[in-house]
Amino acid sequence: MVKLNKILITGAAGFIGSHFARILSEKYPALKIVILDKLTYAGNLSNIEDCLQRPGIEFIKGDICDLQTVRKAMRDCNAVVNFAAETHVDRSIEECSPFIKTNYFGTYVLLEIAREMNIKSFIQISTDEVYGPIPEGAFNENDPLNPSNPYAATKAGADLLCLSYFKSYGLPVCITRSTNNYGPYQYPEKVVPLFIINALQNKPLPIYGDGKYYRDWLYVGDNGEAILLVLEKGVPGEIYNVGAQNYIENNQLAKLILDHLKKSWDLVVRVNDRPAHDKRYALDCSKIERLGWSPKTPFQDAFGKTIMWYLENENWWKE
Ligand SMILES: NC(=O)c1ccc[n+]([C@@H]2O[C@H](COP(=O)([O-])OP(=O)(O)OC[C@H]3O[C@@H](n4cnc5c(N)ncnc54)[C@H](O)[C@@H]3O)[C@@H](O)[C@H]2O)c1
Repeated sequence: MVKLNKILITGAAGFIGSHFARILSEKYPALKIVILDKLTYAGNLSNIEDCLQRPGIEFIKGDICDLQTVRKAMRDCNAVVNFAAETHVDRSIEECSPFIKTNYFGTYVLLEIAREMNIKSFIQISTDEVYGPIPEGAFNENDPLNPSNPYAATKAGADLLCLSYFKSYGLPVCITRSTNNYGPYQYPEKVVPLFIINALQNKPLPIYGDGKYYRDWLYVGDNGEAILLVLEKGVPGEIYNVGAQNYIENNQLAKLILDHLKKSWDLVVRVNDRPAHDKRYALDCSKIERLGWSPKTPFQDAFGKTIMWYLENENWWKE
């Protein structure tokens, strides 16, 4: 394991990165942490307000595509975890260029500076979407990439670039590919907070097509623990799938939220399907289980608490 002395976390003002920053700073209170985030529409400093109070945590507002900014942010670090990304599939179908810039070119800039700075551990946060859909069974880390939408394609490109830096330059890179995360602090364009917030306001819950789309729902804190384990014990050059084996159809997701909030199914409206909408994603996670991780958070409990969090934190999402 690399002895961490200072770490750069990019994109930690977003959803998963903010949970990870909290988990890391609680486990390693003496660790120096630099957070680099552009604060796009999806980034929100209030997601990490508590972390920023801690001594040893520095925040830099800046773009991972900017070489000088990244060089400054990575100075004296020996580890990097890259969460910074454009993440909304629908937006990538509308306009792909920000996805190419941040997800692909931005990852290249981080890799280049990591090489220059002799970084000892570089963790790239990727997604199950790079494999594309699977009607049954589950993908393992050796399966080919087959992304269906521009977001997933830019993430797949970044994964390949990361692996090439391991092979060509020996940069110690690990990749985690997780399934769909849920939990507090997720930007309300994503399906879980969107459905909760719309239901709270008696607004329609838009379901794409027939709603028969299956995703594996993973609690964001469990993903944070998985990423931390890969940072601590991951083998350079390796990819780790992360999932909860908790497959839920979109119709059922809406029903769970409506039932929890005692709202009627009448709020559901069917909308035109997204192009190239993948029916089902599924991951074989035995590799990260062998490393020592398994999802700890029971879905029923954490999903209910997530709904309550959005109910109780209206100020956060109204902003
Ligand atoms: N949310 C999920 O369910 C999920 C599932 C699998 C993988 N992922 C991956 O996890 C990572 C984090 O996802 P998320 O849901 O937390 O995203 P998010 O959209 O909530 O947050 C992204 C963060 O990156 C920042 N950012 C964007 N462009 C930047 C740039 N050019 N420079 C610096 N910062 C920039 C934003 O300001 C924001 O704080 C992404 O790489 C995503 O592909 C997410």
